[in-house]
Formats: sequence, structure tokens, C-alpha cells
Amino acid sequence: MGTGEQKKSGGMRVILDRRSVRDYTGEAVDADSLDLLVRAGMSAPTAKNMQPWSFIIVTGRETLDRLAEGLPFGKMLGKAPAAVVVCALPEQANNGSAELAVIDATCASENILLTAHALGLGSVWVAAYPYEERMAHVGSVLGIPAEVVPLCVLPVGHPVAVKQPIDKYKPERIHRERW
Ligand SMILES: Cc1cc2nc3c(=O)[nH]c(=O)nc-3n(C[C@H](O)[C@H](O)[C@H](O)COP(=O)(O)O)c2cc1C
Repeated sequence: MGTGEQKKSGGMRVILDRRSVRDYTGEAVDADSLDLLVRAGMSAPTAKNMQPWSFIIVTGRETLDRLAEGLPFGKMLGKAPAAVVVCALPEQANNGSAELAVIDATCASENILLTAHALGLGSVWVAAYPYEERMAHVGSVLGIPAEVVPLCVLPVGHPVAVKQPIDKYKPERIHRERW
């Protein structure tokens, strides 16, 4: 194994092997794992360390089904045993910036996706933002205040199958020193 291969083992594997998982077994996700996912989200970097996010953990079958109804690309929520909804809080962000709140909440979301994979769970980003209708749907199902931006819904479950990693490395997209 060369040095490059060694570097791809260990923690790096979590990043390289993560895939979007949309099929889940019926098995529930335990409360400790859900808490760990949110903890991972809160560990992400945020502009000026303002931490302008909130997370909604959903495990109620009826609520998950209602979320699925209004999300055209979120039908897998109808089979997921849990979801974490990541919300951006523009009022809490650096300079009250909605853009920064969304960027910060996006960093948190990726941490959650990676941690789900590290725990042997599966997840996928289901978009709410920037689609007004989807944001309104998630907001109304979950009672989210108007000033809060529902960014995405991350269904969480035990994967039915292990998905093969995709190698997305594109050397032609790397510029050195100058574009
Ligand atoms: C901003 C964003 C929005 C996405 N929205 C959806 C979605 O609504 N439904 C879905 O099934 N996947 C969604 N995805 C997941 C992508 O389809 C997926 O990441 C991409 O196809 C690459 O596959 P991989 O995650 O397995 O590497 C979204 C991803 C991002 C980053």
C-alpha cells in the first residue's frame, strides 16, 4: 500500500465512502445516535463562531410521512425511522446575514451526513431551501417560525444495502497557483 492509499484509510474513508442512502430497513435509530448526529452538526465551523442553526429531530411516523408528502424528492422519508431537519437562523448569524446562516447550516449538515455514515447509518440531503414551496411545507408541518430558514431534511435509517463509493476526483478541476 503506497502513502496515498494509507492516507485514504482511517478517518478519510468516512469522507471518501459516504453515499446518499435512500433505502432503510424498518429498524429504529437509537436516541444516542440521533444526539451524536446533532452534536456533529454543532461541531462544524460557523462564520465568527455565531452558530446560527437549530436542529429538529423527528421520529414520529405521522410527521415523517407528512414531510414526505410535500417534498417531491423526499419520498424516502416515508420509510425512514427518523430525520434531522437543519434550520438556519439569519438573526443569529454574523451581520444578520441569511447567506452566512445558510452556509453555516450547510457545514453542519455535511457533518451530520458524514457522521451518519461513520455510525453505519444512511442519510441523504433532501432539499427544502431554496425552494419556497418546500420551505413553506416543512415550516408548516414542524411549526418553524417565519424568521427561521428550513434548509434541509436529513432522513436517517439503517441502510438496506452498502452502496459503492463513487470516485469524483477530477484532476482537471484543480488549478495550481493561478486559474
Ligand atoms: C443541496 C443539495 C440538495 C439535494 N437535494 C436532494 C433531494 O431533494 N433529494 C435527494 O434524494 N437527494 C438530494 N441531494 C443528494 C444528491 O442527489 C447526491 O448528493 C448526489 O447525487 C451525489 O450522490 P452521493 O451523495 O451518493 O455522492 C441533494 C444534495 C445537495 C448537496
